[in-house]
Amino acid sequence: MCITYICTFFQMIQLHDLHFQAYLSSEEIQETVETLAANLVADYQDKNPIFIGVLNGAFMFLSDLLQHFNADCEVEFVKMKSYTGTTSTGEVKIQLDFPDVTNRHVIVVEDIVDTGNTLVKLDELLHAKNVKSLAYCSLFLKPEVYNKDIEINYVGMAIPNKFIVGYGLDYEGLGRNLPEIYQLKEV
Ligand code: IMP
Ligand code: MG
Repeated sequence: MCITYICTFFQMIQLHDLHFQAYLSSEEIQETVETLAANLVADYQDKNPIFIGVLNGAFMFLSDLLQHFNADCEVEFVKMKSYTGTTSTGEVKIQLDFPDVTNRHVIVVEDIVDTGNTLVKLDELLHAKNVKSLAYCSLFLKPEVYNKDIEINYVGMAIPNKFIVGYGLDYEGLGRNLPEIYQLKEV
């Protein structure tokens, strides 16, 4: 059974069996997204880059990001899965075929980088594709957990190592539609 309730006073929500506390407002997120878009426009104005959104989590971020990217660009998606519940399985599975990116400027768009396992897998695949340039953009980064060498060129916000939901991010399928970010409440 899945119960979602919102208690406006404490700004708490429940998804399945877990409780989450309000962490970032929609306004704070949008401000961050607009700053990222401005930085990307400055660097890619005349390059017609391909943005590759990593599904499912990046769908909302990518949508908002591109509405502020006022220059030519194209959009593709890949689908990856590595999380079960609130922990990374360590194994990254590709669930959607890879788009053709030969000789193009590619910007991979992630909702969040945690262990970086997904990024490593994508990096391997993309380096075999003869791209013109490759950059990574993530709305959130957990620096306490990320231990890979790949540079994340555009980071919206560094956050503590706590599980979050909302704005595309889910807990067992729920929470992606929330416009705010909520953080797991410790018991
Ligand atoms: P990584 O491979 O460990 O870097 O994690 C990649 C994916 O796991 C992210 O793109 C998210 O989809 C998911 N993920 C990581 N941390 C969280 C979190 O705090 N909440 C929800 N999903 C997360
Ligand atoms: Mg993701």
